[in-house]
Amino acid sequence: MSVDLVLHNARIYTPKGIVEAGLAIDKGRILKIAKETNLPHASEKLDMKGKIVLPGLIDPHVHLRDQQLAYKEDFFSGTSAAAAGGVTLVIDMPNNKPVTMSATSLKERMKLAETQAVVNVAFHSAFPESLEEIPRIVKQGAVAFKLYLSQKIGGLDIEDDDALLRAFSKAGKMKVPVSVHPEDKKTLEIIKKEVQQAGRRDVDAYLKVHSPDAELKAVQHITQLAQKTNVHIHFCHVSSAEGLNAILATKNMGLPVSCEATPHHLLLSSKHLKHYRTIAVMDPPLRTEKDVETLWKALRQGLIDAVASDHAPHTIEEKNAESVWELKPGIPGLETTLPLLLTQVNEGRLAMSDLIRVASKRPAEIFHLRDRGSLAEGCWADLVVVDLKRKYRIDSSNFYSKAKYSPFDGWKVRGKPIKTFVNGQLVMDDGEIIANSGTSHILR
Ligand code: NCD
Ligand code: ZN
Ligand code: ZN
Ligand code: ZN
Repeated sequence: MSVDLVLHNARIYTPKGIVEAGLAIDKGRILKIAKETNLPHASEKLDMKGKIVLPGLIDPHVHLRDQQLAYKEDFFSGTSAAAAGGVTLVIDMPNNKPVTMSATSLKERMKLAETQAVVNVAFHSAFPESLEEIPRIVKQGAVAFKLYLSQKIGGLDIEDDDALLRAFSKAGKMKVPVSVHPEDKKTLEIIKKEVQQAGRRDVDAYLKVHSPDAELKAVQHITQLAQKTNVHIHFCHVSSAEGLNAILATKNMGLPVSCEATPHHLLLSSKHLKHYRTIAVMDPPLRTEKDVETLWKALRQGLIDAVASDHAPHTIEEKNAESVWELKPGIPGLETTLPLLLTQVNEGRLAMSDLIRVASKRPAEIFHLRDRGSLAEGCWADLVVVDLKRKYRIDSSNFYSKAKYSPFDGWKVRGKPIKTFVNGQLVMDDGEIIANSGTSHILR
């Protein structure tokens, strides 16, 4: 018997622990993890030279854009950025032009992604106006719905609790999770009116509007509604101690909720805005050092389910607008998540097992991505080889993303993704994208 590929001489992070062994891949999946002598013959062999092999990252919060927003990012540039960052599966967000909110619009995005993507892609859909469309969207293959509470994106009236409840109930029945952007629209609007009347257009005014209170109110409102159904709510980019504690309280009640934090909310605080200014404006914004510490504590206690990049590329002109009300919030993150987290591992702040849990294992579980997120026999061979010792500086001018800026620019990191395999195929080698088109899967 001969298999497609054997990676030998590796340190492999399996669910059962670290093994020094080889890994046999056949038809895109992990066939066997074992000592050299127990591995089948392979048509191709690659020496990993003792390097670490981790499950490829699964990033559940990525804005790949494309279509009419292709000037910011497209499926090829965005998924190349993912591959370069050791991310083998991304879940796309629906705030596109046109908005992903029907079976037809989803199908259109899938068709584009199919020919261009170099890593696996799954999709969020916004809720449609008509509830009858929900099963059609699920059938077309959306793995989750996305609900923005800060503004209406999609067909659902977010100020109508009955409509929200019906949508949750329908998603719950179909066992499809709902990812929520937790910021209460009314709270945002009241404060925004105040600061705008005072003539303010500075970054601090933006922080005042996008307050922890807006996050808290949204979390409370949604958990109150959701507990009347059996829907799984996944809270996106939790940023404040207030918001987080409210989420943890509902977890304690045994409700099906999960949450994610971003690398920027874990590693930057509002203090950094002085230096990075509008580049570091995102929604939700950077918080206090106390909030940052609260997130870390929860992460280490296993209470934060996922670390997601919220990769939100915009042009540099869109980032540098004169008024904070004009500028586009969001930063690219696909190429910095893993090196930043590996640096935390090297500094003893994060256990490698926690990294794997939040960056691969839990995202696969929450979004029902079968046979992904773990290095185990039978799973898809989505993996990243990392050099944990490699030191370098983040340089956004080398990003594959069209967004060539980052608040982490110039940061010294230690730990680099050096090879990325998607469905058993090498797609990134030492920073170069070498994918054959069509190697990635659209997950439905
Ligand atoms: C996101 C975007 O640009 O699409 N921006 C951001 O600052 N995070 C929107 C979002 O995720 O809320
Ligand atoms: Zn209400
Ligand atoms: Zn959001
Ligand atoms: Zn986002």
